[in-house]
Amino acid sequence: MNLPTEALTPGSAKTFYIETFGCQMNVHDAEKLAGTLISRGYRPVETHEEADLILYNTCSIREKAAEKVFSRLGTLKKAYRNNPKVIGVLGCVAQQEGERIFERAPQVSLVCGSASYTKLPDLLEQLEAGNRRVTGLDLDTDECFETELTRRDNPFRAYLTIIEGCDQRCAFCVVPTTRGPERSRPSDKILAECRRLVDEGYTEIQLLGQIVNAWEDPAPARLSFAELLGRVAEIAGIRRVRFTTSHPRYFTPEIVQAIESHPTLCDQIHLPEQSGSTRVHSRMLRGYSREEYLAKIDCIRRAKRAISISTDIIVGFWGEATGDFEQTMTLLDAVEYDQVFSFKYSPRPNTAAAGYEDSVPEEEKGRRLSALQEHQRQIQLRRNQAAIGDEFEVLVESYQPRLGQAVGRTTSNRVVNFPGAPEWVGRYFHVRVTAAGPNSLVGVRADRADSGGMTR
Ligand code: 5AD
Repeated sequence: MNLPTEALTPGSAKTFYIETFGCQMNVHDAEKLAGTLISRGYRPVETHEEADLILYNTCSIREKAAEKVFSRLGTLKKAYRNNPKVIGVLGCVAQQEGERIFERAPQVSLVCGSASYTKLPDLLEQLEAGNRRVTGLDLDTDECFETELTRRDNPFRAYLTIIEGCDQRCAFCVVPTTRGPERSRPSDKILAECRRLVDEGYTEIQLLGQIVNAWEDPAPARLSFAELLGRVAEIAGIRRVRFTTSHPRYFTPEIVQAIESHPTLCDQIHLPEQSGSTRVHSRMLRGYSREEYLAKIDCIRRAKRAISISTDIIVGFWGEATGDFEQTMTLLDAVEYDQVFSFKYSPRPNTAAAGYEDSVPEEEKGRRLSALQEHQRQIQLRRNQAAIGDEFEVLVESYQPRLGQAVGRTTSNRVVNFPGAPEWVGRYFHVRVTAAGPNSLVGVRADRADSGGMTR
């Protein structure tokens, strides 16, 4: 096969295209990857047709997600048979499959896991020098991916990673083997970046980590996670601070107290539960019981202001009996989540549960998933309808020209549609709710002045 890497030789105009799959960490990694490439003289383009370098930033949390990249690679192979491009596979599938990717997709030149992103400049240099097979697969790292330049895609919400990797060993989860060990960024660096973001005009900051509340400050200040939340929330000019994803094991009352005492900390907590059955929790190696989880929920519900709660649930995990699933259903009633992300269990390589039988048939998983989603739909509909007549502050995130509607979010992360204008994106408005569905609210601008927002 011809070597396409001359397309990247120094001096030539180099363009890149990144497609991202999966979680917000991946979305933010792509912003940092783009920054790294731009610093090396590459130029971003909107389509793979225009690009010299095509990168797939992949997810392997479930099998379906992991397969997506191979289907994309198949399409590219056909499209560029006579005009080969430089193609890289990054992220979790890269780490999981390693050099096997070259066998399955020989047109790939770069395979790099997220724990090796700091080596990306070296890897690019190797590609530019004409190397055909370049890998970054070292997982044993204590470094975070720090970049001089981050090309943020969203002009008003800034993602910011505070902890990378994962040290939990949940029996179903591939992340510890694809993202490497936990490593926290120091509080002084995080706070300096937050201040910079506010100076640049961002009003919402979302702190990210696979287990965001396992963050431990390596700086001498030794802030706790709740203290860090408070410090970020107090930065002048900031209006909204969110954080995701929290693990129940590290969820403390101090986090709730921080939200209570800082109005800029959003009224929203995502706390993955995974199952309502203690027996399943223990098989999943989650480290808490149903009762312990509910005690944390109770602590959130007793907060001085209402905090919305969302969760992740897996149905059909190894050994999940009908009675276990019923407990997940009763948990939905006990908690009354505002949003639930639910998934059929998908066995993953290199996990503790990979060696066990995938005991719940696919059809039964599907039935449980539908039953759970329908039940939760009713709960959400009820909760959202209870908000009719209430007024919320909404940050407009997009505008739908066909409908003439602004689409925004409340601090509790509810989506609100209301008549608006394209230039409202990035600004805050007070909106009164007039109608509600299970997944969003409809409203009208309340009779008050626009409360500002983006400073740019
Ligand atoms: N199968 C199905 N869902 C999974 N998740 C993680 N691993 C798996 C798996 N093997 C879900 C969990 C997690 C969310 C991000 O993805 O609910 O919280």
